[in-house]
Amino acid sequence: LPAAVPQAAFDRAAPRPAEDATGTTHTLVQRFVVPFSYPVVFTWDALTPSNRALVDALTSREPDRRHRVLVVADAGFVQAWPEVEAAVGQYVTAHADQIELVASPLLIPGGETCKNDPSVASGLLQAFARHRLDRHSFVVTIGGGGVLDAVGFAAGIAHRGIRIVRMPTTVLGQNDSGVGVKNAVNAFGSKNFLGTFVPPFAVVNDFRFLERLPRREKIAGIAEAVKVSLIRDGAFFSWLEEHADALAAAEPAATATMIRRCAELHLQHIATSGDPFEHGSARPLDFGHWSAHKLEALTAHELRHGEAVAIGLLLDSRYAVLRGLLPVTAFDRIFALLSRLGLPRYTDALRLRAPDGRRAVLAGLDEFREHLGGELTVTQLCGIGQALDVNEMDPLLIEESIRWLETKHAEEAGR
Ligand SMILES: NC(=O)c1ccc[n+]([C@@H]2O[C@H](COP(=O)([O-])OP(=O)(O)OC[C@H]3O[C@@H](n4cnc5c(N)ncnc54)[C@H](O)[C@@H]3O)[C@@H](O)[C@H]2O)c1
Ligand SMILES: [Zn+2]
Repeated sequence: LPAAVPQAAFDRAAPRPAEDATGTTHTLVQRFVVPFSYPVVFTWDALTPSNRALVDALTSREPDRRHRVLVVADAGFVQAWPEVEAAVGQYVTAHADQIELVASPLLIPGGETCKNDPSVASGLLQAFARHRLDRHSFVVTIGGGGVLDAVGFAAGIAHRGIRIVRMPTTVLGQNDSGVGVKNAVNAFGSKNFLGTFVPPFAVVNDFRFLERLPRREKIAGIAEAVKVSLIRDGAFFSWLEEHADALAAAEPAATATMIRRCAELHLQHIATSGDPFEHGSARPLDFGHWSAHKLEALTAHELRHGEAVAIGLLLDSRYAVLRGLLPVTAFDRIFALLSRLGLPRYTDALRLRAPDGRRAVLAGLDEFREHLGGELTVTQLCGIGQALDVNEMDPLLIEESIRWLETKHAEEAGR
């Protein structure tokens, strides 16, 4: 915590009629710090009554009270896990002395649909009002990154913040999106245009939920682990190389280790970067994302977020080679790892042109800057596990990087 504001500052701020003469200006400086802390639990079978992770998370702050809970679940997830609705009821009944459900679980559409359709967030807000949730109530949200984002946003603005407990059900949700502080929905054609920085009350990751995730979703989520290893932890990158086959086969132990380390690196960044709510211009965790977000939009979200990230980080890594920042041997390792994991290295959306003839993906750079404001700041690699910020991107070198990916793709397709 910073040093307390000296008493003298308050003394100076006390009314001093002589100084309040018409025409004088006084400034009071308001200053305080709010510490945040939340548990991120990794477990199996979280809804088995004997597993206390969830009930302990819900009751950690006021163990002697009975807490009101509304569960909001991803309809796509519930389709794959129909038994979960009954399991929620049994879990709450088993812990009825400490928690109660205000209603049966509410289902909302999964994926980008719930972030694109404004009636989802407004329907959630109506439900919060109907069930008289207050700031001490809990919204427990179970689902993929899309649902976590939309429910987190609605919970963050109702009563200026209802407590949220996230139970991410995708690889990407568990290793990245579900453990951080950002929540958002899309609006006015812009991804994440409406959003909040609201940390969760707790996160409970249940590895069991990943078993029925489509293979494509499992693989897509690994891209965020490759990303964070590249900017933060070269040893983790080597570990990913050593376990690439197990990860590509979605082997549970390797997947769990990958998720834990990736989540840990994200949490460390948020806690230690000095800018958890992104007031500055740098966003190292968004390495590869300026093009990724655009490629997702250009494919109408057919390309999964993680898949777009894989292509985006490859594009920026090639750029770093051309700029003389990254040794080509490092690039070759990145390309080889993504290939072995079964992540895409190319999409036809890279070919699309805007009406002015420019590559459509380049607009992603402008949108990246606009979303944040301030100076364009793009994270680039200077080694495996080593990143630096640059404030300009040379369009000719981006073009050359895209051409390289195109040529490589054509070569691989021709084989
Ligand atoms: N807030 C953040 O910091 C942050 C970070 C990264 C990504 N995101 C957002 O996360 C979203 C992507 O999330 P995602 O990759 O988790 O996928 P997703 O939420 O789009 O879900 C993918 C699909 O899987 C289904 N599903 C979810 N869990 C399942 C399970 N266990 N078994 C079977 N099916 C299941 C969903 O219904 C959906 O159809 C994007 O909107 C992205 O912008 C947010
Ligand atoms: Zn991402």
